[in-house]
Amino acid sequence: MNYRHAYHAGNFADVLKHGVLAWVVRYLQQKEAPLGLIDTHAGAGIYDLTGVAARKTDEAKDGILRIVRQEAPAALLSYLEVVRELNGEEIKSYPGSPALMLALARAQDRVLACELHPEDSEALRRSLGADPRLRVTTGDGYERLMTLVPPREKRGLVLIDPPFEEPDEFERLAKAFIAAHRKWPAGVYILWFPIKHPSELSRFQAELLSAGIKKLTLVTLDVARPEALSKTGLILCNAPFTFGTEWSAALTWLTEKLAQGQGARAEIVPLTGD
Ligand SMILES: C[S@@+](CC[C@H](N)C(=O)[O-])C[C@H]1O[C@@H](n2cnc3c(N)ncnc32)[C@H](O)[C@@H]1O
Repeated sequence: MNYRHAYHAGNFADVLKHGVLAWVVRYLQQKEAPLGLIDTHAGAGIYDLTGVAARKTDEAKDGILRIVRQEAPAALLSYLEVVRELNGEEIKSYPGSPALMLALARAQDRVLACELHPEDSEALRRSLGADPRLRVTTGDGYERLMTLVPPREKRGLVLIDPPFEEPDEFERLAKAFIAAHRKWPAGVYILWFPIKHPSELSRFQAELLSAGIKKLTLVTLDVARPEALSKTGLILCNAPFTFGTEWSAALTWLTEKLAQGQGARAEIVPLTGD
């Protein structure tokens, strides 16, 4: 377990993931009913972009720092507002997924976060744990997920954002999602992954489709980054019906802003015909 998100906080993959996450939360909040927001691989909560880990890779420079002060498309505004509100003039801190969920949560919403790494889960508790709307568990997020769905609110979302350190992560992700979806088919799910080998993604998609899961949408972003992870993706299940329309403009904008070379591109592909 070597992966620490502090080295990658605010990079281009976070921008896509967190932009979509914030938009979905705000969409679901159009109804007053409370939400259960579940984060299976939560990380440390708030990241110091001036710290040793972040500065070692400088990934935020080609991610959030490229766009945070720009005039962005509507779909990205909730996300960017949280990042701006956490900071003063200078952007020194970055909200990870549980911090973002908590910043967007209303009084009636709950955030249920799980993190396996004891130091990161402790950091998460330290930075955000005083908020009674947040519950942090230290442990395996895939196992914990099965006890968290459906949340008592019966509405909400699940973010599954594994580190992809192990070769079987796609299989574990598929298994956990399929099992959780069986227990809670109405939830919105956001699954994150890196795209290193297109065949892995094809196998992953095929597995979800053969489980009979409907309403799946694939989003990919390739920033044409030389010699490093360049392409990332999300699969959403039960995405709000306006997702494709609202996010196509945002993705075009993000691709232009985050491109690191020729051939940067992004797309939204409905995987099921519903
Ligand atoms: C990509 S990072 C999460 C980033 C976070 N979701 C965010 O967007 O700010 C993946 C996290 O999963 C944690 N992790 C690894 N294996 C896990 C497991 N089986 N269950 C829960 N957390 C795990 C890692 O320690 C790491 O903090």
